[in-house]
Amino acid sequence: MSDKIQPFHIPVNRRRFFKSMAAASAGFTLPGFLAEALTLSPTVTQGPYYPLADDIPLDKDNDLVQLGDNLTVSAGVVTYVSGRILDSTGNPVRGALVELWHADREGDYSYSTGVGRNSACDANFAGFGQFITGKSGAFKFRTVKAGLYNGRTRHYHWGVTLPGKTTRTTSQTFWNETAYALNGTVFATQNSNDSVLTGITDAAQKASVILNYTAVSGTTTGEVQASWDYVSGFTPVEPDYPAPGGFVIAGEVVAGPSGAMRYRLRIPVFAGYTYEVYGNPTLADLEWKALPFSLTQTGTLDRNKHTVTAEGTIDLFVNASASKGFYKVTFRVPGANTGTP
Ligand SMILES: [Fe+2]
Repeated sequence: MSDKIQPFHIPVNRRRFFKSMAAASAGFTLPGFLAEALTLSPTVTQGPYYPLADDIPLDKDNDLVQLGDNLTVSAGVVTYVSGRILDSTGNPVRGALVELWHADREGDYSYSTGVGRNSACDANFAGFGQFITGKSGAFKFRTVKAGLYNGRTRHYHWGVTLPGKTTRTTSQTFWNETAYALNGTVFATQNSNDSVLTGITDAAQKASVILNYTAVSGTTTGEVQASWDYVSGFTPVEPDYPAPGGFVIAGEVVAGPSGAMRYRLRIPVFAGYTYEVYGNPTLADLEWKALPFSLTQTGTLDRNKHTVTAEGTIDLFVNASASKGFYKVTFRVPGANTGTP
């Protein structure tokens, strides 16, 4: 359970990266009339290494290269992937959860069935990142080039959860290359005989996930980049929230248990979303805090989050003493990997 309003940790020293993303995405346009030219992204197996909550660090934002404010970064070729989440008509999807996970430079995933993440995985590599799209549908990840492991060609794993959906759709992207291991050995499994890639039988769909990486101009450290639009066959009904991630709402005073005062928050909700309530306990405290709430007017304040099963309106009740009457209600889209609490 986070005590921050922001769904994701964004260290101050990396804000430049997010700013650069905003600038880059501003130039993207793909009007809906091109929809007939769009190729739906292929859905392929999630694979066995989608990380468990225990396998991922607290820092699980869209930068997999640097954990928190660590000075040491992941080993490997720094790689950027940017693109947009589009619906079946070519329109950008706001509020989509995009997840990326893959092997480190040596081919080790963070995934582990033991306690904590796989100790063989680069300790400076996040192994997993996530991002919620804004209205442009754009996403961007900074990570490292995936390493090779036995039986697969080089690949990234992607999960996309669209607003209103309660399951993630999974895909994979590949490199337009002959995949060499670190020591120069060509692995037996290449793009041409990888069971996942060759299992994509539609030629256009297959081509859409084999990405061309190019050098990032202005850098001397070998950084590369590729773009990839994820095109869903599903057109979501967009939640009518003012901003992705949360909104501020005024509470209404009602009588609580034994006549004590409570505030009622009446909020529109969508199926599968998980809601949390934050309050600003003092005017001097800029950090809004998570508040316990009840689903009934006089019930026990026994929860910090609530997952809704049907679209509609619900009431959440908080103690009057817990805030100043204005609240921040945040929501997670269905399927979000909440990671370690
Ligand atoms: Fe994999």
